[in-house]
Amino acid sequence: MDPDLDTSTRTDSPEDAPTSSFGRVAVIGAGAMGAGIAQVAAVAGHEVVLVDVVPGGAASSREKIGAALERLVAKGRVEESHASAALARITARDGIDGLPECALVIEAAPESLELKRDLFAALAEHQPSTTVLATNTSSIDIDDIARDVTDPERVLGLHFFNPPPVMRLVEVVHGTATSRAYVEHATTLMEAWGKTPVRCSSTPGFIVNRVARPFYGEAQRIVEAGVADAATVDWILREKGGFPMGPLELTDFIGQDVNLAVGTSVWEQTGRDERYTPTDLQRRLVEAGRLGRKTGAGVYTYGTDGAPTDAEPDLELAERLVGGPLETDPLARTLAMLVNEAVDLVHRGEASADDVDVAMRLGMRYPKGPIAWGREIGFDVVARQVAELDAAFPGGRYRPSPALTDGSLA
Ligand SMILES: NC(=O)c1ccc[n+]([C@@H]2O[C@H](COP(=O)([O-])OP(=O)(O)OC[C@H]3O[C@@H](n4cnc5c(N)ncnc54)[C@H](O)[C@@H]3O)[C@@H](O)[C@H]2O)c1
Repeated sequence: MDPDLDTSTRTDSPEDAPTSSFGRVAVIGAGAMGAGIAQVAAVAGHEVVLVDVVPGGAASSREKIGAALERLVAKGRVEESHASAALARITARDGIDGLPECALVIEAAPESLELKRDLFAALAEHQPSTTVLATNTSSIDIDDIARDVTDPERVLGLHFFNPPPVMRLVEVVHGTATSRAYVEHATTLMEAWGKTPVRCSSTPGFIVNRVARPFYGEAQRIVEAGVADAATVDWILREKGGFPMGPLELTDFIGQDVNLAVGTSVWEQTGRDERYTPTDLQRRLVEAGRLGRKTGAGVYTYGTDGAPTDAEPDLELAERLVGGPLETDPLARTLAMLVNEAVDLVHRGEASADDVDVAMRLGMRYPKGPIAWGREIGFDVVARQVAELDAAFPGGRYRPSPALTDGSLA
């Protein structure tokens, strides 16, 4: 491994890390994610302080948490007494001034570096030196957020997925200064909350948003090239690949603007690596305001009942493409590039092979982890496929990872 890319964390003694598993937790930002995280922490037994900058915002989120807990009680998933005790443990607060001492603070404010940096500097100043300072950022580098924190070894990412009470996956993200003791503590805590934590370094997109890039990109390129229409490509990935949704319908579901923003962020943060160049197809959709389901049109056009009106696959074409030449086989091409991306992350030392597979199964509901899939297909076969694509489409997008041929993942 390139020593510059060695992401192992500092090995401070574990006694540096806080020990109380049931200490007070503050959640900063009571929006979609913050409210869900507060609910999870309270159900796990913590006293939770939910904070928002908008006056009354945290209080109204607390009410929504109460309603969500009631729904769980009605469905028989949570005992009434457990739900009311969890809600009673949550207090709402306007602003971080006077925030009581906490064992853990999770920031879930909007995705702005400046805002998060200011929040972390203020939190570090006013919280005890052992308080774990976590961010739920989806895309910002942990080192950048921790820049103005005097003791950045306690700053890390706890990347929950939406909605936090339902999604089991949490990416525990470490910056270059994060101490191993804090990462271990946060990982154990997430397990205690009933989550499945995976660890990764603060690489662009972390695990899920990085490895998933080719899932969207290959499909968009195949449609752009006129090989098949969106419905046929989606049908192939769903029916032949076992993915819960096709890549194009999934971008309509996520929102073309949101998906393009994530892809662009990874592209920019990797120094505009060719591998992540956004497609013209997606840029044009966003420019045209075809943002997906939320605007009634994206890749597909949606009727008043919410169903797409133009999603009829060409099944005869689909059968011809799958197992045919690689360049026009949506499934083989996508799988080869997913495996390539996944092994490359491991090769750079940014996450373990097991964690990559767990993250993609739980975060994206892929039917198999891409590394296990690569083992099944054969890394030598994938290496030949990526090289073939590289020859057909030169320019760096289809750069084979050295990990496909160096035997490290066999
Ligand atoms: N929405 C998702 O699917 C998702 C998934 C994973 C991670 N994230 C990340 O989680 C974070 C929050 O996202 P969200 O979707 O919950 O956003 P949101 O807009 O729903 O909520 C953000 C909340 O933070 C509040 N806020 C703004 N400035 C604040 C401050 N200085 N102090 C306290 N509160 C403040 C806002 O009033 C708002 O209520 C972002 O970093 C986002 O990238 C979002």
